[in-house]
Amino acid sequence: MELAERLIAKTPGDFAKKAFLLSTGAEAVENAVKIARAATGRQAVIAFGGGFHGRTLLGMALTGKVAPYKAGFGPFPAEIYHAEYPNALHGVSVADSLRSIEHIFKYDVEAQRVAAIILEPVQGEGGFYVAPPEFAQALRALCDKHGIVLIADEVQTGAGRTGTWLACEQWGVAPDLVTMAKSMAGGFPVSAVIGKAELMDKPLAGGLGGTYAGSPLACAAALAVLDVFEQEDLLTRSRAVGVRLTGALQALAGQHAEIQDVRGLGAMVAIELFKDGDHAQPDADLTKRVCAEALQRGLVLLSCGLYANVIRILVPLTASDALLDEGLAVLGQALVAAKASHGCGA
Ligand SMILES: Cc1ncc(COP(=O)(O)O)c(C=O)c1O
Repeated sequence: MELAERLIAKTPGDFAKKAFLLSTGAEAVENAVKIARAATGRQAVIAFGGGFHGRTLLGMALTGKVAPYKAGFGPFPAEIYHAEYPNALHGVSVADSLRSIEHIFKYDVEAQRVAAIILEPVQGEGGFYVAPPEFAQALRALCDKHGIVLIADEVQTGAGRTGTWLACEQWGVAPDLVTMAKSMAGGFPVSAVIGKAELMDKPLAGGLGGTYAGSPLACAAALAVLDVFEQEDLLTRSRAVGVRLTGALQALAGQHAEIQDVRGLGAMVAIELFKDGDHAQPDADLTKRVCAEALQRGLVLLSCGLYANVIRILVPLTASDALLDEGLAVLGQALVAAKASHGCGA
């Protein structure tokens, strides 16, 4: 109860809210969709290309990236449609993205049968592309117009990662439901759906739940995380980490033409690599080599992105500046080594 109350207090939206605890991010996503369907009596869900929502069957269906997440695992649950996620670097404007939703209403399913639109405020596995606030505001207006539930999947962006407790706090409008997991309990398996009480109350009693949902140990871990956020002012630290990472990565981009974009929100920062700096040639191979070279030097990097050419940085918010600088230096060395072995010189 204490965790639910504290999560509710931190979630935007000028309406009565409830919170429901589960174990994994995918479970939170699945339950948000169940709640939206039960509340609206509708079936269809719109998600976005490049989005990632988990590895369960509905999670995979909502995910907008075939390899490696969906290949060979179908068939998937029906009534899931994918729109374009705004991505200026790859030529998708906010207007293009909104048009792709109108196309779904025209080509595939009428708006009156759509239960929910689900999006990540910053695509995680998809490449750290950030949804501009005006896009979220347009989605809010669209959902209000058609009675659609707006779900922010904050499994990766939530818990202070983007400089605010939830990334959607930076939208200027509130989603109806939010999903959280990952960092909210510092790695202990607990997840949550938080949102409008009038929606959360719609499923029948017993329709939502799980044996391990909201286990006491994981709740204690999540409460400790919330305490540390306050005691160590980790939201301020998240923004400072973001500024430090962005500055250093921009300096690195000045030395390497392959880095064509440094972007992110708060401490959720990424670089995107292109062959010869040409936006038509995403360089997945170089990205893989940089990660391998970094690993040899003791730094674990994670790549991501629709074109597998993005290196994302998700350091603990408690990491010191000295440790950040050490990691950034290793990244620079790994890049030089990867380019040398790539045959394009250092
Ligand atoms: C945005 C998003 N949604 C859902 C999930 C699934 O979470 P889990 O792996 O805990 O099931 C993830 C995991 O990476 C994620 O990033």
